Amino acid sequence: MTKCPFDHQSTTLTTAAGKPVENNDNTMSAGAKGPLLLQDVWYQEKLAHFARERIPERVVHAKGSAAFGTFKVTNDISQYTKAAVFQPNTETEVLLRFSTVAGERGAADAERDVRGFSLKFYTSEGNWDLVGNNTPVFFIRDPLKFPDFIHTQKRDPRTNMRSADAAWDFWVHTPEAMHQVMILHSDRGIPANYRQMHGFGSHTYSFINDKNERFWVKFHFKSLQGIANLTNEEAAELVGRDRESSQKDLYENIEAGNFPRWAVKVQIMPEAKAHEHNYTFDLTKVWPHKDYPLIDVGILELNRNPENYFTEVEQAAFAPSNNVPGIGFSPDRMLQGRLFSYQDAQRYRLGVNHHQIPVNQPKCPFHTTHRDGYMRVDNNGGAHPNYAPNRFNTYQATHNQEPALQLEREAAHFDFREYDNDYFSQPRALYNLMSEEQQEVLATNYAGSLSGVTYEPTLTKALELFKEIDPRLEQAVRSKLNK
Ligand code: HEM
Repeated sequence: MTKCPFDHQSTTLTTAAGKPVENNDNTMSAGAKGPLLLQDVWYQEKLAHFARERIPERVVHAKGSAAFGTFKVTNDISQYTKAAVFQPNTETEVLLRFSTVAGERGAADAERDVRGFSLKFYTSEGNWDLVGNNTPVFFIRDPLKFPDFIHTQKRDPRTNMRSADAAWDFWVHTPEAMHQVMILHSDRGIPANYRQMHGFGSHTYSFINDKNERFWVKFHFKSLQGIANLTNEEAAELVGRDRESSQKDLYENIEAGNFPRWAVKVQIMPEAKAHEHNYTFDLTKVWPHKDYPLIDVGILELNRNPENYFTEVEQAAFAPSNNVPGIGFSPDRMLQGRLFSYQDAQRYRLGVNHHQIPVNQPKCPFHTTHRDGYMRVDNNGGAHPNYAPNRFNTYQATHNQEPALQLEREAAHFDFREYDNDYFSQPRALYNLMSEEQQEVLATNYAGSLSGVTYEPTLTKALELFKEIDPRLEQAVRSKLNK
C-alpha cells in the first residue's frame, strides 16, 4: 500500500483524505450571485473541522506555557533512592509546564495567583511526573475540599465575576489555609515571569533505595535566574499592554539561547522520624530546613521550545500517579487524593488513549494489555495477546515491592484537627522572616484583596485570624482598611 504522510514540502492543498483541493477561495454556488451548494464537500469539511478545534481546557491551571530540557544529576543521592533518574551523572529529558491556577486559557499571565510547576521526566524506567507549584505549601490538607476551594477561585455563578467574598469566606473557615494565603499576598504573589521563581514538589514523597529502605522526601527547584516579582501596580500596567508576558519571556529567552536553569535539591527524612513531627504529611506546612537541610541533587535546564503548542503543551498530561521504581507516594492525604483525579481528568479532557499522544509517551519500551478505545492510532498491540497470564509468559509483573508501610489506626473519617490545630506558627515564622518593607507590602495586598469583601463578618474573622498570626499584622491591615 502506498503511504501518504503529512507532506510539509508539498505546495498542493489537500482534503484530510488526501484529495487535491480545486478551489480554496470561492465556495461553489448556483450562479455567481446564487446560494451555495451542499456538494462543495471541501467547504463542509473545512468548517466542520474548524468547529471542533477546541477541547476542554484543564479544570484548573488552564493557562500555561512549557518547554523541554534536561535534568542532570551532579551529586550522588543513590543511598536514598534506586530511581534511575537520580543515579550519578544521569541525564534525562524533561518537559516543564508552568501555569496560573484560576484563570481560563485566555487569562493574562501576570496575575496574583499560585504558579504551577509540572515536570515530566522521560526516565529509562517510565515517565515520572512531579506536578508541583511555585509554593512549598497549599491552601488545604484534605482533598475533599479541593472542588469547593476552586469554586471560590473561579467565577461566581450569578455575577460571572471573580469574587473576593467567596474566596475570603472559604479562607476564614479554613484556618489551615493561612500559610498559603500569606504567601499568595506577599511580595512573591505575582512572579515577574516563569524563569525567575522557585518550584516545589510540595508534597512529601518517598524514596526507596536498593536495600529496600524508605525515606521521606521533599523536592525543591531553586531558580538560578534569581527571584523577580511584580507589585500590583506593575502587574496591572503589564497586563494592560501584554497578556502573555510569561509566555513571551520564556519563549524568547529559550529562542535566544538564554536557557533557564534550576538547582534541584531534596530534603530527606528517615522513615521512622515521620511520627515525631505533625508536619511530615501536612501539605499546609513546610519541613524546617534546620531539621532537614537541603541536599544538592542536580541541575534542571530548559533549552527547547515546543514545535506545536497544541500537541505538545495543551495535550500534555501530567499525573502525580506517574511514578517510577525508587520514588513512591506517602500518606499525605492531598497526594493520595490527587492519585486518581489527574488521569481521570485526562480521560475526559484528552480521551482514554491520551498516553499514546507523543508528548505523553514514555521514551523507554512499554508493554501493557490496554487495547482499543476511542482514537487508538498506534498498532494497538498488533497480534500480541491482550491478556495475562498467558502461555507465552509475556506481561510478567516484577514483584519488586516497596517495603510494607506500617499503619496504626482503624478506618474512619478522621478530623485532621484531632492531632494538629496549629495553623499559625508557620505563617508567624514566615511573617517574622519578612523585612519591614515586605510586611508592609503584605498588609497592603491583604487590604486590597479584602476591600472587595462586602460581608462584614468575613472581614472581622479575617482580622481575627491575622491577629492570631501576629497582632502587628492585624493592626497594619486594619489601619489600611480604615483608610
Ligand atoms: C492540574 C486536581 C492539588 C498542581 C490539575 C487538574 C486536576 C487537578 C483535575 C487538571 C489535570 C488535567 O486536566 O491535565 C487536583 C486535586 C487536588 C489538586 C483534586 C487536591 C486534592 C494540587 C496541588 C498542586 C497541584 C497540591 C501542587 C502542589 C497542579 C498543577 C496542574 C494541576 C501544576 C497543572 C498540570 C499541567 O501543567 O498540566 N489538578 N489538584 N494541584 N494541578 Fe492539581
